[in-house]
Amino acid sequence: MQTDTTRLPIGVFDSGVGGLTVLRALRQHLPAESFLYLGDTARLPYGTKSPQSVMRYALQCTRQLVERGVKMLVVACNTASAVALDALAQAWPEVPVVGVVRPGARAGCAATRSGRIAVIATEGTVRGGAYQRAIQELCPEAHIVAKACPLFVALAEEGWTSGPVAEAVAREYLEPLFCVPGGPGAAQAPDTLVLGCTHFPLLAGTVARVVGPDVAVIDSAQTAAAEVADLLARTGLAAPKGSPAPTRFLATDDPGRFARVGGLFLGRTLAPDDVAVVDL
Ligand code: DGL
Repeated sequence: MQTDTTRLPIGVFDSGVGGLTVLRALRQHLPAESFLYLGDTARLPYGTKSPQSVMRYALQCTRQLVERGVKMLVVACNTASAVALDALAQAWPEVPVVGVVRPGARAGCAATRSGRIAVIATEGTVRGGAYQRAIQELCPEAHIVAKACPLFVALAEEGWTSGPVAEAVAREYLEPLFCVPGGPGAAQAPDTLVLGCTHFPLLAGTVARVVGPDVAVIDSAQTAAAEVADLLARTGLAAPKGSPAPTRFLATDDPGRFARVGGLFLGRTLAPDDVAVVDL
């Protein structure tokens, strides 16, 4: 009997739990879809690794999802999207692949009025220049500043998303970029800040307080979900309305930690029994 492809889950992958912010947006936008999420927690963070390692990990993770049967791949990790998207599309030509960098860039370009856009991300994403290129392509006159904010990853994973420590770290990273005491003049300050890392939406409140009300803070998860919805419609892969299968979770390390920290990102309780460990 032939499989009805539309009923297959969408495979979502990240270096760990951060991509659950993208999964959350996907589930809100696409209530009829089922999802299979893989977090490569054993090898997190990707943001400090070489592009070669990230590429290899991304291929292994997506192979795991493709072999389990998914109709689409969402690379819910900015670092992996920045480095490996083309390689993944080549490796799995039969499965559409969506990343989070282009949607984030598009949302940033749509939000800016002055053309001055700041991007914060991991070291790897900033170093590779993928956001800078994607923004420049969509908005050639844009003036872009990109900054690595690696401590935000650790703060989000510890649940320290607000309070004096998070605020002090945010000030240290962001004050030099924005029009705040010690920063550049108002005319040069960006009016848009793209959160180019899956962990950063958890700190959005603190970040917004530091950069002030005149700066649009962009979370690419929402735009990525809209792009997936659009692609499902265009490829005829959208699931029929009805009750979707429950989301399944895979991790490459301790399910207890995945469940505890992942719950913060997903916005609902996860039990260790909900998470299966896989060896890539
Ligand atoms: N998921 C990664 C990203 O969005 C952040 C965590 C990591 O460095 O692996 O870039």
